[in-house]
Amino acid sequence: MELVTLRDILPKAKKEYYAVGAFNFNGYEDAEGIQMGAERAASPVILMASQGACQYIGLYETVGIVKGIAKHSKVPVCLHLDHATDCDFIKEAVKAGFSSVMVDASAKEYETNIRESKAVVDFARDYNCSVEAELGKVGGKEDNIVVEDRSATFTVPADVPRYVDETGIDALAIAFGSVHGFYKSEPKLDFDRLAAVLKLTDCPIVLHGGTGIPIADIQRCIGMGLAKVNVGTELKAAFSNTLRKMCKELPAEEFDPRKFLKPVKEAVSLIVKEKLEAFGSAGKAADKA
Ligand code: 13P
Repeated sequence: MELVTLRDILPKAKKEYYAVGAFNFNGYEDAEGIQMGAERAASPVILMASQGACQYIGLYETVGIVKGIAKHSKVPVCLHLDHATDCDFIKEAVKAGFSSVMVDASAKEYETNIRESKAVVDFARDYNCSVEAELGKVGGKEDNIVVEDRSATFTVPADVPRYVDETGIDALAIAFGSVHGFYKSEPKLDFDRLAAVLKLTDCPIVLHGGTGIPIADIQRCIGMGLAKVNVGTELKAAFSNTLRKMCKELPAEEFDPRKFLKPVKEAVSLIVKEKLEAFGSAGKAADKA
């Protein structure tokens, strides 16, 4: 199967009140684990690589891994660049074969955010690549981007319609109480703010910082019309904890990397399957718009 874009999967999800899970990966093992989980749930899936992950894996290698995975996949797979702040890097990723990118100009003021996000949309269109952008600032640490909690700012609903119209984006990340990484205290989502945004735009809305938010809260957002949920840290923790466990359990004379890494793939796959079931996208693999 060819890679799909956000345009292929999110409008349908929004209309039918389920969300597509988007999962961060940092190498082949977790990428494959994510796809296995999606296939087990018969769900479309978004594999996300941050700018830092692409630099770690190699840009063309990242595309190669996911195109290879998609080729034999029974479910639609989207390859999405997560939280990219460097427009030259975004262009390189689009040219390299990403089917979707996120331009994160959320730290800039409103007009600059519109201008930079629109420039990415204009460029990506020629490559049939979808674009997500962010308005308001999600707090926490995502890869090399750190937003101190005190400088995180919630999205102002009234800012959304003009932002969506002028940029032409395919999905919008908003800030309404979630943070990237593990929560230091109980997360409190501002459901009224989400409702106000959903009333003002048809653009699919994205929740960042899916790790640690009670599943009932995420489901409440999805029931209101949220269409994409990002999960990263939880998979990183499952990866590392499983690897640590295998290092302890396997005998010292074991040196086959596959013995260490197959359980890692399984652990990642299990979480992804559970999430996709909870997000309501299980069984929706055939639902490409
Ligand atoms: P978490 O790491 O908190 O799950 O957030 C992931 C994310 O939003 C990636 O953009």
